[in-house]
Amino acid sequence: MTRYSQILGTGSYVPKRTLTNAELETMVDTTDAWILSRTGIASRQIVVDENTSDLAYQAAEKAIADAGIEKSAIDLFIVATVTPDMPFPGVSQLLQRRLGLNTITAFDLNAACSGFLYALNVADKMIQSGAYRLALIVGAETLTKITDYSDRNTCVLFGDAAGAMVIGPSDTPMIKDVVTYAKGDLEGHLTMDGYPLKQHFKTPDQDRPFLRMQGSEVFKFATTALPKTIRTLLKRNRLELDDLALIVAHQANRRIIDKAARTLDYPMEKMYLNIDRYGNTSAASVPLAIDEAIKEGALKKGDTFITVAFGAGLTWGGALITL
Ligand code: ACO
Repeated sequence: MTRYSQILGTGSYVPKRTLTNAELETMVDTTDAWILSRTGIASRQIVVDENTSDLAYQAAEKAIADAGIEKSAIDLFIVATVTPDMPFPGVSQLLQRRLGLNTITAFDLNAACSGFLYALNVADKMIQSGAYRLALIVGAETLTKITDYSDRNTCVLFGDAAGAMVIGPSDTPMIKDVVTYAKGDLEGHLTMDGYPLKQHFKTPDQDRPFLRMQGSEVFKFATTALPKTIRTLLKRNRLELDDLALIVAHQANRRIIDKAARTLDYPMEKMYLNIDRYGNTSAASVPLAIDEAIKEGALKKGDTFITVAFGAGLTWGGALITL
């Protein structure tokens, strides 16, 4: 029998501290009106003393409780993040003992804002292969750690969060299709400073590494990639837009989501939005939005939906899922 996979439970967590547009007005030359009209973001939740593993832990515990499974049954743990607590050990290994997981396959994955879709693709295929049964996948980020709060082009966009999912085997195709892509020749549009090569006999540069972005280039890329990926998933599975209960796109900019809906001729009411409250939370954005859509009743058991994301790399991807 062909094996498929399905979502068994979801959970999410955002830190308590709210960063409003009004507060950003005191930090850089910007206005609430500019941020709201150009991005759709009103506020974001940011960490004070929690790190990525703390956010991931809270979201993972909620997803495990929602799935109603024994933790000891989890045999695969993937954390998608570009802002781990430290380069190594990974967030997945840092959390293994705290979550009470067995000695299992646990690793971090970096595909920036598309990271959760990459993790979903890997978990889906590893379960389909029969080698693994129960996967915990998490998207968790503290992007505020690498945000330059003197750069108005980027500092208004990002927030911190985590979202998690438990994925298990299914006799019927519930996670119907997952696609992931990358185009490394566009890498320069969105980067984070790396480690400088060691300069012998010089004092190390103490500057913090920051995220740098050519916003309009990423915008152009995203508004093409999102509708194209949605059409690809529908065509591959012989479905129409009308078959979808909702589209859950990466929450990077409301105008990107508006433009994708217009290109597809799809109603905005069926494009899930929570960007106003959280901003862009990178790899956490998709699982946070899916979890909230389920908890708010915008997605119900039996609904079919598409989720799509894009991010640094440049990377992008999508999934067609029935709950
Ligand atoms: N407040 C006021 N003015 C601003 C601000 C701000 N916060 N930011 C930029 N501006 C100014 C610019 O300086 C520019 O001024 P100028 O005309 O005098 O030069 C003007 O606004 C227009 O700038 P644009 O860059 O053309 O503004 P745009 O409407 O494109 O919005 C934005 C910029 C919001 C960054 C948009 O391009 C965007 O959302 N891009 C996509 C970003 C994204 O999705 N990244 C995703 C991945 S993140 C990850 O993977 C980690």
